[in-house]
Amino acid sequence: MPHIKVKPFDTAIVEEKIPHSELLTFRATSYNRGDELWGVVIDQREFLLQVKKFDDEVLIKYDKVTRPLKVNLLKEALARVAQELNLEIISSNITQHKESRFASEYEKQIEDFESIVFPFEKVSVEVGFGSGRHLLYQAKKHPDTLFIGLEIHTPSAQQVLKQIALQGLENIWVVNYDARLFLEMLPSNLLEKIFVHFPVPWDKKPHRRVISPTFLAESLRVLRQGGRLELRTDSNNYFWYALETFFAVPKIEVEVRKNEALEVTSKYEARWLKMEKDIYDVYVTAKEVSEPKEPISNFNFNIVKYQKGIEDALPKKAVVEEDYFVHIERCYKINKTRWLIKCSFGSFDRPEHKYILLQEDGCRYFVSPPVKTSVNAKAHQKIVELLSHVERH
Ligand SMILES: C[S@@+](CC[C@H](N)C(=O)[O-])C[C@H]1O[C@@H](n2cnc3c(N)ncnc32)[C@H](O)[C@@H]1O
Repeated sequence: MPHIKVKPFDTAIVEEKIPHSELLTFRATSYNRGDELWGVVIDQREFLLQVKKFDDEVLIKYDKVTRPLKVNLLKEALARVAQELNLEIISSNITQHKESRFASEYEKQIEDFESIVFPFEKVSVEVGFGSGRHLLYQAKKHPDTLFIGLEIHTPSAQQVLKQIALQGLENIWVVNYDARLFLEMLPSNLLEKIFVHFPVPWDKKPHRRVISPTFLAESLRVLRQGGRLELRTDSNNYFWYALETFFAVPKIEVEVRKNEALEVTSKYEARWLKMEKDIYDVYVTAKEVSEPKEPISNFNFNIVKYQKGIEDALPKKAVVEEDYFVHIERCYKINKTRWLIKCSFGSFDRPEHKYILLQEDGCRYFVSPPVKTSVNAKAHQKIVELLSHVERH
């Protein structure tokens, strides 16, 4: 990731440059450690640079939480900082290259689903599509249906986006995100099918499995009446685990098949077929129309604002509740009444990492609010509570 190493200098000089700079917006110093965060803005995109001071050099690099998707923006910010501050570069890796990330209109971000319009009447989802063989096949076979493919492995997601372009398909969206949290973003009664083909069995860490009571409940909510969740697995353990999970629900229609040949064989499945392994299908049909999804409120802080002493009063350890947590990791001081608070919170599977900009006249997430999920909403309420509690001191 882009960085520059420069000869040691007094980082406080940034303060003098900020009022005249079109790039630098603020300098925040760590409350109890030596490192700093500098706010920058390029092309109307705000993000942070991290500054670490060592005896013989200063390292200026990207900040993981706020980094822009376009790496070249980061490189430009680093180059301009070095120029504006007249820094002596020891080494760097900020030569601009053509972006290697394959950009496609068919790639969607999780946040897009907060207000997305589905351009097809029929919508199906595939969880963990891997090489994408099944996803591409289904999309070709059903041009009237939108297929949303979820995959946490970025290279696989990129590969399938390239295939979509090559094959000229217009009915696939790819989301590089954890499927366990994604379904929550969808309205009720939307989906025709949810395919979960050969999920990772996670025999030693069952809590990481895609199928769970929560996933089942969310699946039944987002499937239309008569829609189907289709699990296909080569794992005996997973098969029995799934059946147990499904049968724990009072009224449910479950169908089981063994060694059923599908029209398309995924790369993964082909391997098991060669080894003559048994393959199980478990289908769950949604029998009822579900209630509409509860709206999630906006992540604003209303009356929360900076109060003296906040930096000392916030909890040092993570606050852990049954289904979410909040961890205030670090406080950075911009000036006496303006602070940046680094925190992680939300679900244990896919935590959010954010900064909160806390000032005398209000408070906001920097640079953008968290994804609108119910665990994030609960965690946000806890953060508001923690910051308000401090106010009473
Ligand atoms: C064993 S592979 C099967 C791939 C493909 N379905 C097939 O049949 O060849 C499991 C895939 O699920 C993906 N995966 C695992 N957990 C996931 C999750 N929580 N959300 C989305 N994808 C996930 C993995 O990255 C991997 O590509």
